[in-house]
Amino acid sequence: MEKIIKILGAQKWIYAKTMPKNPHDYCLRKNFKSDDDFVYAVQFIRDNGIKLSWEGRSYIYLYLNGYRYWTMGCAINKPDGSHYTILINRSKYEINSLYDLIAEKYDDMFSSESFKKEDTLLFDIIRDKCNGKIVLDIGSGTGLFLDNINHNTNDYIGVDPSKNMVDIFKNKHPNYRVINDNIENLYLGQFNFICALYGTASYFNEYAYKRIMRMLSKDGKYFFMKYKNDYTPYTHKAINLDMKTYNLSFGEYFYDFGNYDIMTNFKL
Ligand SMILES: C[S@@+](CC[C@H](N)C(=O)[O-])C[C@H]1O[C@@H](n2cnc3c(N)ncnc32)[C@H](O)[C@@H]1O
Repeated sequence: MEKIIKILGAQKWIYAKTMPKNPHDYCLRKNFKSDDDFVYAVQFIRDNGIKLSWEGRSYIYLYLNGYRYWTMGCAINKPDGSHYTILINRSKYEINSLYDLIAEKYDDMFSSESFKKEDTLLFDIIRDKCNGKIVLDIGSGTGLFLDNINHNTNDYIGVDPSKNMVDIFKNKHPNYRVINDNIENLYLGQFNFICALYGTASYFNEYAYKRIMRMLSKDGKYFFMKYKNDYTPYTHKAINLDMKTYNLSFGEYFYDFGNYDIMTNFKL
């Protein structure tokens, strides 16, 4: 991922003036320092992007750190070797999250003794495992991880698509970095401890797992928690909404934890 970020970041992006209804930028093949870089970038977008339709046509979009990238889909070169794909497009994307609706109440909802006991149990399990590690906290919410673990400021990044959850996190933990996005849109470097606490892993599709695994270092550990199959999340009940969840099993070791399944690559 470092290579594609470097190549795309080095380009001159030009605003597409003729399409104000579909605001986006583009960069031209002829302006790339090396044609190999252009070919690499186009192939990468096509191999790693997600197929979506726009105005009845389907395109492959690569979401990456605030932008989505796409091409028109024709071959990179014509059979005679001349250039066919000649530009890459990009535009910013928006993030929406239903968690915005409960963010303000979220900490109060989980403030009773029984929830606090559950937290104590959970953080007793993971505290040692993430000690001294570079932590990616996916679905960091209002900052539960940092409420319970005193971690080095530079060794922690939180990610959450809910702006309102992120605002509360920032108020509580102003010295820590948190990114307002879906994990499947990001590449943030290498981490040796990646967690997704309580129900967060229930929101991961296959594409999200693929992206997460790209950020796990070789010796890295992960700790994912998803809702048990027959459990209706407390948060979903609170806003009376049927939020989309996935039930993908991922991991080498599986453990029960109340209403949650824990999935890890290490023994507890
Ligand atoms: C059940 S809450 C858990 C929050 C926090 N980890 C905790 O235990 O208090 C799930 C969180 O996952 C976030 N989330 C949902 N989909 C996500 C995604 N695709 N990427 C990252 N976070 C996501 C939600 O916004 C929400 O804050």
